[in-house]
Amino acid sequence: MANVIVIGAQWGDEGKGKITDLLSRSADVVVRYQGGVNAGHTIVVQGQTFKLHLIPSGILYPKTECIIGCGTVIDPQVLIKELDQLEKLNISTANLLISQTAHVTMPYHRMIDKASEEVRGNHKIGTTGRGIGPTYADKSERTGIRMLDLMDADGLREQLEWTINYKNTILEKLYNLPPLDPQVVIEEYLGYAERLRPFVVDTSLQIYDAVLRRRNILFEGAQGTLLDLDHGTYPYVTSSNPVAGGACVGSGLGPTMIDRVIGVSKAYTTRVGEGPFPTELHGEIGDLLGDRGAEFGTTTGRKRRCGWFDAVIGRYAVRINGMDCIAITKLDVLDELEEINVCVAYEIDGERCEHFPTSARMFARCRPIYKTLPGWQMSTSHCRTLEELPPQALDYLRFLAELMDVPIAIVSLGASRDQTIIVEDPIHGPKRALLHPNGTPV
Ligand code: IMP
Repeated sequence: MANVIVIGAQWGDEGKGKITDLLSRSADVVVRYQGGVNAGHTIVVQGQTFKLHLIPSGILYPKTECIIGCGTVIDPQVLIKELDQLEKLNISTANLLISQTAHVTMPYHRMIDKASEEVRGNHKIGTTGRGIGPTYADKSERTGIRMLDLMDADGLREQLEWTINYKNTILEKLYNLPPLDPQVVIEEYLGYAERLRPFVVDTSLQIYDAVLRRRNILFEGAQGTLLDLDHGTYPYVTSSNPVAGGACVGSGLGPTMIDRVIGVSKAYTTRVGEGPFPTELHGEIGDLLGDRGAEFGTTTGRKRRCGWFDAVIGRYAVRINGMDCIAITKLDVLDELEEINVCVAYEIDGERCEHFPTSARMFARCRPIYKTLPGWQMSTSHCRTLEELPPQALDYLRFLAELMDVPIAIVSLGASRDQTIIVEDPIHGPKRALLHPNGTPV
């Protein structure tokens, strides 16, 4: 029995979808604990591509219970589209549960998200425009609408009449946008409520019950450590807590019931949206990584910025999340390169810095210090064991593990489930006693 958190160790898009999909095989329950439809998982099963924004990828397994926890924000329109898409593909959604205390993204959240980005001009965050920040802002401001409010027609009418009038003042006076008609929004959302009602429960009770029944629970993080509201590259972050600690708050389970934390990182680095990115590559190699890695956002289709692997943020993610082991994804994207750089430390104003600086202004001044490793210049996507990897690729993995001081449990070499090397079962293997890729115990 193990309750496991899977988190992104970089700026999101690390390939968590594939890793959680793989691990979901051993999970009885999968819980999504933060974020909203800003996230996107692309999953390939038997040649079919699935794009999920809110529903955990565990839904693809008929016996797995999937829970959208209280720390998420839910855009009902998108969620219903996802449900329809799955049902059309004959994938049952009978095992889905939605937290009654998760907050609901409303039309004014999406409008304010886009309008505030415009107003910010050069200072924009580069958000996904899905209303995530404004939904969480209302949660903190205590003007949010929760799933349980949606289920109570009379209460919702009363609450939304007041809230929409309040939001209309902001839309009109601050952003020069047309006001919303409260009655139209109320009727639209009451329609969503009827479709979603069968799924909405107190999910913290369900999760606790699963713990008592000694079920395996997988907590699936969206985005990544460097996009965390408290621990990321603020202000260029999302508005929730993707780090492992967020899993407890966002699901309603105490930390003593978590058994281990698995990180996911690409073999290089990507970032969407604005904000400093010390190892970013602007030339040919960046384009090659983008092309070979198909680096376009699942949610917005935006081109992702690409760069070398950054072990400073890797070490930081290991520390902040208390990571037990890590999955390295997309190693095959590096196959053609003659030489590969790894950022081992930063230089800030002439001084060497080994740790991630929490100030964004300081982070913007960081220059990467690289160690150059030889590439392997051959295909690795067919490899299924560490022994089949070219020695340079193995050296590369060993170097990353040593720099971050974390064992590598999984190596991914392509989008399909089978393009994977399982070094050690990350859930049932001995905790913190996994092996480095070279076979040296940690
Ligand atoms: P928001 O979450 O839409 O508010 O966007 C805030 C920042 O997080 C922007 O830089 C987005 O590009 C980034 N972001 C949000 N969700 C994801 C994701 O799933 N992958 C990568 N970046 C994301």
